[in-house]
Amino acid sequence: MPSSRRVALVTGANRGLGYAIARQLAELDIHVVATARDLAQASSVAEELRTRGRAASAARLDVTAPDTITTAVQHVLEQHGRIDILVNNAGISDGDQQPSHIDPDLTSHVWQVNVLGAWQCAEAVIPAMRAAGYGRIVNMSSTLGSLHHMTRPTEPAYRVSKAALNALTRVLAAELAGTGILVNSASPGWVRTDLGGPNAPRSVEQGADTPVWLATLPDDGPTGGFFYDREPLEW
Ligand SMILES: NC(=O)c1ccc[n+]([C@@H]2O[C@H](COP(=O)([O-])OP(=O)(O)OC[C@H]3O[C@@H](n4cnc5c(N)ncnc54)[C@H](OP(=O)(O)O)[C@@H]3O)[C@@H](O)[C@H]2O)c1
Repeated sequence: MPSSRRVALVTGANRGLGYAIARQLAELDIHVVATARDLAQASSVAEELRTRGRAASAARLDVTAPDTITTAVQHVLEQHGRIDILVNNAGISDGDQQPSHIDPDLTSHVWQVNVLGAWQCAEAVIPAMRAAGYGRIVNMSSTLGSLHHMTRPTEPAYRVSKAALNALTRVLAAELAGTGILVNSASPGWVRTDLGGPNAPRSVEQGADTPVWLATLPDDGPTGGFFYDREPLEW
């Protein structure tokens, strides 16, 4: 018997936006599977949520290690019989590169985490979502990945990877149309985290709002979109 609560798997849930998303989803009475590269950190998040009376568990998941993705998803399905929500939150930046002079290893790593990692997580959960006729996949993108807004050269691998992640949102949404699985991209804005830095204007709670909204859309909600503060954002 599948669990009665919806189940959400969040990548990179140990800190920053992933942690805030995990907390907000848990407060909506969703069972959160907090995942992280370091199982002890994921477990500590799950423990904290349980201490607050919420439903949560932990799994080790490194988005660049496909075996950890498969094992985590299998474990969730064995435990709960369902995965309703995937938040592809894990992400890294290349910082101060120039688009005309890149470090190929760093650029490849950014691609592995931000694009292939999210892609393989989606691939892993889609069969269970299809079988259930329900799913919400949220890809944590960025306004820096919007081609419309891409007028500066900073963080080029990050920008290109987030533009590619947005393309992934579009092709998955097209494939999954009519299956009950909604796939969308979110921009959290510039948020105070290790990635965003201390001068960012937004809190993690503000940044988590749109991805959590997309993770809990009603059945007639949008798919294949890119959203900032719950409003469409230019691609
Ligand atoms: N902060 C912003 O202003 C901002 C703006 C736009 C978009 N975003 C997006 O929001 C998401 C979260 O960003 P954040 O600001 O919360 O960043 P953050 O505080 O630096 O956290 C990044 C998270 O990603 C995880 N991660 C990195 N590599 C991973 C891997 N190989 N496998 C699994 N997890 C991995 C980190 O885990 P470890 O602790 O193990 O490193 C950490 O949990 C990212 O996708 C980012 O691009 C952030």
